[in-house]
Amino acid sequence: MTTTLVDHTFRKDVRRCFENQTYAIPARWLYDRRGSELFEEITALPEYYPTRTETALLRANGPAFAASTGANRAVIEFGSGSSTKTPHLLKAIDPAAYVPIDISGEFLEHSASLLQEQFPDLPIYPVEADFMKRVALPESVADMPKLGFFPGSTIGNMIARTSVNLLSFMRETLGEGAQLLIGFDRIKDQQLLIDAYDDSAGVTAQFSLNLLHRINRELDGDIPCETFRHRAVWNDLHARIEIYLEAQDDVKFSIDGTVHEMGKGQKIHIENSHKYGLRDARLMLRAGGWTPSHDWSDEQDYFTLILAEARPYKHAP
Ligand code: AVI
Repeated sequence: MTTTLVDHTFRKDVRRCFENQTYAIPARWLYDRRGSELFEEITALPEYYPTRTETALLRANGPAFAASTGANRAVIEFGSGSSTKTPHLLKAIDPAAYVPIDISGEFLEHSASLLQEQFPDLPIYPVEADFMKRVALPESVADMPKLGFFPGSTIGNMIARTSVNLLSFMRETLGEGAQLLIGFDRIKDQQLLIDAYDDSAGVTAQFSLNLLHRINRELDGDIPCETFRHRAVWNDLHARIEIYLEAQDDVKFSIDGTVHEMGKGQKIHIENSHKYGLRDARLMLRAGGWTPSHDWSDEQDYFTLILAEARPYKHAP
């Protein structure tokens, strides 16, 4: 996305939060340069189990992935970012091509060239696009069988309706007959979940508060960031961790020349991270047009990778 478009949509979303008093800001705005650096730090925290658990699953199950996918597929990664988990999959399945899709062109070129060094003979075709819509894939992979890759439980940051829409777009992008390998974070002990999103070193709190710093930096704001506290709450009804920034005192600040006030205890909702039972995850995939065929979980059932197929639609009996 171009900088001006980012500015415009960011401004619009922040305005809606404070002027329309929705007190919610889409989680995508957490990831500016500083936010992305802080997220990388989060993935290495002792309390944040998802990254290391999923990476271990990818490492341990290479032969099983290869047996289920076969060789010579084009691997299409949605929201590839730094592509850190990708080498494990590519090594395991002997693909014919790799297509990383990301909205940030800068990030994409950099990680694609690092990967090319590791896999000199693999054709890599980066695509700069918003993967929340149907994406036009490069002509060169048109006739190859496809394997979509969506690790990280990124799907967990979307509400169910958005997740199902995304899965349907992925099916359109990849076509009938394609496979999809996707990561789901599982429902587990509440304290473990809260600790993963409110770590003792305070990195997740910095990640959340960076959103207010970003508003100050980019939208001419003067929010007193130190007045806000990061809060991670388990919502059992929605099976998700909710992240809020809570005012510790009455505050008054301006953004873009407009003054806003918030009362002590008032919260801004900035992120959801949904967790799934295995059957919930399978149902979500079927709702998006994908038939689950295999899954791999760690011993503690903290995280699951599911392989699903875009089978031809059949009439219901
Ligand atoms: C990117 N996403 C899967 C992370 C998660 O676990 O929901 C984002 C995150 N937010 C705070 N910690 C991690």
